[in-house]
Amino acid sequence: MLFEHLRVKNLQLENRIVVPPMCTYQAIDGVVNQFHHIHYGAMALGKPGFIIIEATGVTPEGRISDHDLGLYNEQQAQSFKELVTQLRTFAVPLAIQLNHAGRKSGTNDSVKYAPSSIRFDETMRTPNTLTQEQIKEIVAAFAQSAQYADEAGFDALEIHAAHGYLIHQFLSPITNHRTDEYGGTYRYRLRFLREVIAAVKSVWPKEKALLLRISADDYHADGNGLAEYVEMMKAIAKEIDILDVSTGGLLPIQPHVYPGYQLNYASVLKNTTQLPVIAAGLLHEYDLAQYALESGQTDLVAMGRAMLSNPHLPITLARKSGQRLLQQIPYNKGV
Ligand SMILES: Cc1cc2nc3c(=O)[nH]c(=O)nc-3n(C[C@H](O)[C@H](O)[C@H](O)COP(=O)(O)O)c2cc1C
Repeated sequence: MLFEHLRVKNLQLENRIVVPPMCTYQAIDGVVNQFHHIHYGAMALGKPGFIIIEATGVTPEGRISDHDLGLYNEQQAQSFKELVTQLRTFAVPLAIQLNHAGRKSGTNDSVKYAPSSIRFDETMRTPNTLTQEQIKEIVAAFAQSAQYADEAGFDALEIHAAHGYLIHQFLSPITNHRTDEYGGTYRYRLRFLREVIAAVKSVWPKEKALLLRISADDYHADGNGLAEYVEMMKAIAKEIDILDVSTGGLLPIQPHVYPGYQLNYASVLKNTTQLPVIAAGLLHEYDLAQYALESGQTDLVAMGRAMLSNPHLPITLARKSGQRLLQQIPYNKGV
């Protein structure tokens, strides 16, 4: 099952292993450099089914740090085009994750923005409340980055609505205290995400897959949990092609972590939205990944930290299961 094909829209995935987005903090001025070519090249050589490039800022102050990738100017756009062209050699479908960090931005820009003026913790600056005009500018920035991503040749695009960044800040009642049409009940708190999706879709080709990453639990009684996310995702399921399910990050809370700890969230959202899902969270052992897929709880399995530790992990797992991933002629000698 782990090495079964999956087709979703334009994506022809050779196996079910996804390299999830993982920030590497190696960029200068948001531009792709040699590090990214080698890093993602190594991952692609390992033959996962799908690679999602790390969180990439849609504006300078929307980056998580000054060393994040960005996709808001021509120089960055050109550097992404070169990366995609090079990675094409390995024939692994590629997505990019677009993000605005909101109150969790750690860049040197003087002002931070969020739905409401509530800081993450005492180490972070208190953000300014976004005006409606500024909200429109950020929505437009997502569309501009999506256009650059399409021109760069990406097969798919992931909107980052997880881990406590700006879109997540709008979704949660803990961080969104607005009294205008962007705040209130969940239907109003969804408005910003809906606007981002609509703006992205106005430029993103219909035939290319659109992914959404969410945190399906705020791990706080005053926030959203799985039940709230089921309602919110049912309301927008028609707008997206794959749901990438994570949890947490809104508050400085560390959940209890164990192999498969987020699997149930993916499973419930798969059943209630009927969307293909990606599950993440310590799913890198062959038997557990295989179980998650065979029991129908998820369609795809992210292997993040395990791919950092061994970028050839898919080849390693295939060998363990007596299979051989094709197109890896030089590495087959290592069996
Ligand atoms: C170094 C590092 C950077 C990460 N950066 C991102 C990111 O840019 N975007 C994102 O959605 N998640 C990010 N994550 C979360 C991973 O995508 C993944 O969900 C998490 O590591 C759990 O999967 P794993 O147990 O297979 O590592 C990051 C995780 C790590 C370890």
